[in-house]
Amino acid sequence: MCGIVGYNGKKKAVDILLDSLSKLEYRGYDSAGIAIRDKEIEVYKAKGKLANLKEKLEKKDLKGTIGIGHTRWATHGEPSENNAHPHTSNDGSITLVHNGIIENYQELIQKLEKHDYKFYSETDTEVLANIIDYYYKKYKMGPIDAINRTMVRVRGSYAIAVMFEEHPDEIWVARKDSPMIIGQNEDGTYLASDVPAILKYTNQVYYIDNLEAACLKKDQVTFYDLNGDTIEKELTTIKWNAEAAEKEGYEHFMLKEIFEQPDVIKKTINYYIQNNKIDLSKSGITKDVLKSFKEIYIIACGSAYHVGINAQYIFEELARIPVRVEIASEFRYRHPILDKKGLAIIISQSGETADSLAALREAKKQGVKTLAIINVVGSSIAREADYVLYTIAGPEIAVATTKAFSAQLIVSYILAIEMAHIRRKINAKLNLELIKEIQTLPDKVQYILDNLTHSIQKISSEFSYVHDAFYIGRNLDYAISLEGSLKLKEVSYIHSEAYAAGELKHGTISLIEDKTLVIGVITQEEVYEKTISNLVEVKSRGAFIITVSSDNLDVDKVSDYSIKIPETNKYFYPSLTVIPLQLLGYYITIARGLDVDKPRNLAKSVTVE
Ligand code: F6R
Repeated sequence: MCGIVGYNGKKKAVDILLDSLSKLEYRGYDSAGIAIRDKEIEVYKAKGKLANLKEKLEKKDLKGTIGIGHTRWATHGEPSENNAHPHTSNDGSITLVHNGIIENYQELIQKLEKHDYKFYSETDTEVLANIIDYYYKKYKMGPIDAINRTMVRVRGSYAIAVMFEEHPDEIWVARKDSPMIIGQNEDGTYLASDVPAILKYTNQVYYIDNLEAACLKKDQVTFYDLNGDTIEKELTTIKWNAEAAEKEGYEHFMLKEIFEQPDVIKKTINYYIQNNKIDLSKSGITKDVLKSFKEIYIIACGSAYHVGINAQYIFEELARIPVRVEIASEFRYRHPILDKKGLAIIISQSGETADSLAALREAKKQGVKTLAIINVVGSSIAREADYVLYTIAGPEIAVATTKAFSAQLIVSYILAIEMAHIRRKINAKLNLELIKEIQTLPDKVQYILDNLTHSIQKISSEFSYVHDAFYIGRNLDYAISLEGSLKLKEVSYIHSEAYAAGELKHGTISLIEDKTLVIGVITQEEVYEKTISNLVEVKSRGAFIITVSSDNLDVDKVSDYSIKIPETNKYFYPSLTVIPLQLLGYYITIARGLDVDKPRNLAKSVTVE
């Protein structure tokens, strides 16, 4: 949801701002803008993708070495140049970019109108520029005072970067519940919504907490609390490398990230398993604590929620612990009843998803311990959870998640095995078998990528015209169908739904007609025959069936096209079945000529409700 960047240093700001914004375009791409200060602050904006702004700036020679930038995902006000950031106060003395939502902006507009402020846009952001201006001029106590008064007065979420006309060498920032990191190197200081935006320039970052502000000078960053007192902070070294945020020869980030999965899975496994033993101590959780939980609540959004559904099957069957999986945006509003002896597991790639963060806070409020499965180190959820299990996926740039999803699955398997072991629900032999088998997954995923990609690409081009697709399976095959279906629809815009195969007869089967595409996932032996029967039912109504099945199961009689994956333990199949499903989503989208990395209306990090 919107990305913000800033630079104050020795180099030309325009190049750095545009380059950093290009890494954040996955957060929003309906308009973009920058403000650069040479003698005066100049603002440039364009509707649409960043390329439009770049084109506009091509012939300008902007020499300024200080500036801020923004890529927008519209919340208040249509995508337009007028609503694009940066926004300025009435007399132009404050210029600001904002990621987040100001909930009481109408009330603040009314207040400011009484003081003759006028508004030119439909955004909630313009009010921020003017309210800062109002406090700055009223109290005459400088930027930090004006920003802190603003933070006390506004409700909502924000990460802001502000340039004051009267403070030409400074960028001021503040945040509450929206992400922001601050970087530094010998060339200057940087700010961004996310690490990949500045990774090319520095891996030395500061984390700024809620309701804190900072002043970025060329060679120094000073942090302040809400009282205006300075705070000391340490620089943290980010372990991701800069190439990880580049396409490196792949046509799209999504394809690159699909192909990174063997490596990501291996790194995540090696992070928690050494010498065939699971070690979760890096999360801060002890075996005794892990043993003490009576039930589990898994809370997440989108694909991360699908990981939760997969994990539910495995935790309950293997560790015999009751699991509830909840959509984060619903969780706190239905006033959930939680047992204090329960464990809330929040799954999130970004660690910034607003609903997941709110769910974490709700669980903590109710006195429940929280464990987060997170990819972005130092993100809000990671910092607020009692325990953190990191996924070692590196930066994920494509809007549709692939490698982070796979890493989340791995962490959930490892946690389930460890819980089963500690709770004595599995014996040492099975424990070792599972640990050994999980370590074979990187090679099996590699096998699928090496041997099946070409044929999936071919079949995808034949199905690029379909209007609907149905994904069906039972047990874990159903759980992974949910993700396969989301992968297809979010990038290709083909309507698709996932169903538990046994549920089709209760309504949906009436939608099946001649040549309707049905993708059947079949790996779970216990329910194999039942899924086959369900596929026969749709085939007899004219469906075209693609099956994704394990090598040992005979699916010939139902498949019009069959994708065979290597065998593994029944709990680990989702890690293998998801690969062809991701490839189908990717290649069908390419065949339709769409922008697979940046699907319309979507943003990678959903930091607003
Ligand atoms: C789909 C996708 C989203 C995210 C969801 C949660 O491909 O990426 O559904 O899974 O928005 O995001 P995180 O994991 O950052 O909390």
